[in-house]
Amino acid sequence: MSQFPSQLGDDEVSVWTISLEQPAIVQDRLLQLLNPQERERAARFRSLPARRQFIIGRSCLRAILSQFLNVPLTEIRFDAGGKGKPFLHHEMASTLEFNLSHSGDMAAIGVTRNRVLGIDIEQVREITDFEALVTRFFSPTECAAFAQLEADVKLPGFFRTWTRKEAFIKATGQGLSRSLESFDVGVHPNSPPGLLRVVDDPDEPGRWTMIDFMPREDLFGSLIVAGQNVTARFQSFDPQTDI
Ligand SMILES: CC(C)(COP(=O)(O)OP(=O)(O)OC[C@H]1O[C@@H](n2cnc3c(N)ncnc32)[C@H](O)[C@@H]1OP(=O)(O)O)[C@@H](O)C(=O)NCCC(=O)NCCS
Repeated sequence: MSQFPSQLGDDEVSVWTISLEQPAIVQDRLLQLLNPQERERAARFRSLPARRQFIIGRSCLRAILSQFLNVPLTEIRFDAGGKGKPFLHHEMASTLEFNLSHSGDMAAIGVTRNRVLGIDIEQVREITDFEALVTRFFSPTECAAFAQLEADVKLPGFFRTWTRKEAFIKATGQGLSRSLESFDVGVHPNSPPGLLRVVDDPDEPGRWTMIDFMPREDLFGSLIVAGQNVTARFQSFDPQTDI
């Protein structure tokens, strides 16, 4: 069983990693914990891996939030921002913030209090044409820095840049409605995490704390939270024993 922190302080981020490789019987049990709208959404996924990501991710999100809120997981109500970012319904009267990401066979969930949060994980996969993706998704400054990377750090550099950028657009809730050229992050896999520059607002990088993590050798993760002096606590969550 996972140990839940008895309290979540304003200066903490609780990060949970979850294996999506679950037996069908477990997935079926978790599906029953979702509300009718979530079950309908699950049924609409044509891709079985995407369906599995949603069912396991959403049920674990409910379970983790229910521990912090001390309410049954089926009573948790969500709402969503204009670009789809889920948050707790105002009737839950909670200061908890959260964000979820899935990639391949893993999901990650970050939970904070009173701080906006974005999280992204990416499972490393073979990429044959870096240059096209870099040109498409990275800012001009990032493209130039990426071109300078040694060949052996291009792959980790690519995924590191990706999770950092994605975490930020998820924190703001804008998703791809925000131009990926409008801000820069470090592209070297070992560069310090953080926003380097935000176009039109030089003070914006100072308003955030970014933390990189690697739940596994082949999984890059980044999270970003509003404000300073935040520490992250990483734990794993197992739906077979924790729900
Ligand atoms: C939803 C979005 C924000 C992230 O999608 P993604 O990277 O495919 O998926 P992730 O697994 O990391 O995140 C999905 C989860 O984020 C949450 N989410 C949905 N919309 C969101 C938004 N606007 N902001 C923040 N979080 C959001 C949801 O919990 C969702 O999970 P669910 O559908 O199971 O409820 C998507 O709109 C997006 O912007 N994709 C960008 C992909 C890309 O090309 N990035 C380039 C980076 S260099």
